Order: sequence, then structure tokens, then C-alpha cells
Amino acid sequence: MDGLTLVNHPLVQHKLTILRDKTTSIQLFRTVVRETATLLCYEVTRDLPTGTVQIETPIGPTPAPALEGKKLVFAPILRAGLSMAEGMLDLVPSARVAHIGLYRDPVSLEAIEYYFKAPEQLDQRLVIVVDPMLATGHTAIAAIERLKEEGASDIRFVCLLAARPGAEALRAHHPDVPIWAAGMDQTLNDHGYIVPGLGDAGDRTYGTR
Ligand code: URA
Repeated sequence: MDGLTLVNHPLVQHKLTILRDKTTSIQLFRTVVRETATLLCYEVTRDLPTGTVQIETPIGPTPAPALEGKKLVFAPILRAGLSMAEGMLDLVPSARVAHIGLYRDPVSLEAIEYYFKAPEQLDQRLVIVVDPMLATGHTAIAAIERLKEEGASDIRFVCLLAARPGAEALRAHHPDVPIWAAGMDQTLNDHGYIVPGLGDAGDRTYGTR
């Protein structure tokens, strides 16, 4: 699909299988979400701009590449996005974090906002929205709309698993926002869950039901 990058690295695919497996414990699930997010972060930041700085190694002076521009922002959609954001912060500890509280109305499946707090100068930063599951796309679409209202214009979306209908909806609403995912399934069930998916990512991370 145009604008969607499936990360087919063997480590990512192996970890996705662990996440899909219903016998995976809560503790392992949480750990592997975080590890997979770190690997996805490596992919989504591949083209970050760098400049040249002058440094001294123990042997002598040399020009060397360094990241340039304002600190990037990870924007987890609460609550399931939190452990993904932790995995990304493992790789980019200086990043800022925007928290977006949205829940899906169980009947309409529409996204309802209950919390929003973002760093300043979003218009000058790359914002990477993270949510493990891109199912109907309603929450991702609403989160990105909200970030755009706050001035963000350079936005990427990262998930563990996308459903084709959700990915298509997100691309249709926000064609300027590219998507990275570890896998893509074709369908959703009547409750908006991805099939075969991996179940409820929030419940499996936090041991709730
Ligand atoms: N959210 C989840 O946690 N799982 C799904 O399959 C869909 C939405």
C-alpha cells in the first residue's frame, strides 16, 4: 500500500509472532512490545537530518555527523501506546513526549478525547504517533487531527499491527502521514478487533480485561 512501510526484518517478525501468541505472558508481552517499538523506531527515524560537528577523538580532531534540528516528539495514544513510547525512548532518550488520551466508544467505535498534553513548538518538530493497533483507524485519525490543530505538520504513524481498512482510512484522511507497521491483517471483527491480530493490546500489556 502506498505510504505504508511493512518492516519485514526477521527480528521484528519473530517478535510479532510472540505478541500474536495467546500463551505469551503479560510480562513477556510488555517486554516484547517495548523491544519491537525500539526496532520500529530505528526504521522510522532512518532519514532524520544530520549535520556535521567538529569533535576530538582520543587520537585527534575529526568532523562527525550529529542529529540536527529540534528534538523529535513521540506521541503515544493512551494507554496502549505507552509501552511503545518507552521502547522508542530507549533509542532516542532526548525526545519529547506528547500524551494523547483517546478511547473508542464501544458502540460507535468513534474516538473520544479525555486528555491531551504536548510539548511546545510542534510546528518545528517531527511528531511520531504510536499506537500498537491500527484497527478502524478512528483513534489514529482523531489523534493526528488534534496534533495538526496544535500546529504539527511533520507527522508519522507507527504501529505493531495494521488492519487494511484502518490503514486505508488513515491514508485517506491524512495522506501526508506515512505509516510504519510490523504486520498487516486484512479484516476486523464486529467489535473492531483485528483478525487474527493479537487481541487487546492494552489488556495484554497491563493484565486488565
Ligand atoms: N485495539 C486492540 O487492542 N486490538 C485490536 O485488535 C483492535 C484495537
